Amino acid sequence: MSDPHPQTAPLPRHVAIIMDGNGRWARRRKLPRTAGHQAGVAAVRRTVEHCAKRGIEVLTLFAFSSENWRRPPEEVAVLMRLFQLTLERETAKLHENGIRIRVIGDRCAFPPELQHRILEAERLTFANRRMTLVIAANYGGRWDIVQAARALARRVEQGELKSQDIDETLFAAHLAGAELPEPDLFIRTGGEVRISNFLLWQLAYTELYFSEVLWPDFDAAELDRALAEYARRERRFGHTSEQLELKKSYG
Ligand code: FPP
Repeated sequence: MSDPHPQTAPLPRHVAIIMDGNGRWARRRKLPRTAGHQAGVAAVRRTVEHCAKRGIEVLTLFAFSSENWRRPPEEVAVLMRLFQLTLERETAKLHENGIRIRVIGDRCAFPPELQHRILEAERLTFANRRMTLVIAANYGGRWDIVQAARALARRVEQGELKSQDIDETLFAAHLAGAELPEPDLFIRTGGEVRISNFLLWQLAYTELYFSEVLWPDFDAAELDRALAEYARRERRFGHTSEQLELKKSYG
């Protein structure tokens, strides 16, 4: 069979994913919701491997949203434990494979042991360059915008900046993951067609792809379908198609 994603097709530098559908996957099998999250970890592993193989530079996964605290306490506890266990089990292998781990979100709310693991994983893998795996944990797009606004206000209060100095570039530099390219491709699994307070600012020009596949069933073939769809899209960033054609011809 021919490669569904030939090397010549434009490849997104940054893919950001909302991993939805763990609960439904479990319910269909008459299993507890937590079994769906466990199966979700296997899909995380497959996705990281496949993205690295395809040459994606940054993969961001929405592991726990600011709103997920509203779930039953037992489910929240399982998600915390899974996150910690996965970091413990996978960090060394990710490091061997040249993958940098980066966590974005308000980590202060996590148990101290988990905060410690996160820091350790980030420190160990800091210099890796093959791919960056960003885990959005206790993350919310509105939280991110507010924390950036606060950081800028602090700098104005301290006399480092004037309010007129604040433009889109400076604002973006204070968002979580500011050192990373903005996502080119957003994928949401599980059939819902929403952004659900994920990377609100950063998704402004991102191509959106919604998949019916439930997260635990997400695999290389479905990721390749999303990449192929991305390769077919024309990203105009406010320009017309004719302008883009001219740019292609004359560089
Ligand atoms: C959404 O499914 C999934 C989550 C809220 C958590 C995602 C977590 C994992 C895949 C495991 C841990 C991740 C890492 C990076 C270690 P849902 O429960 O909302 O599904 P439903 O919509 O079918 O109920």
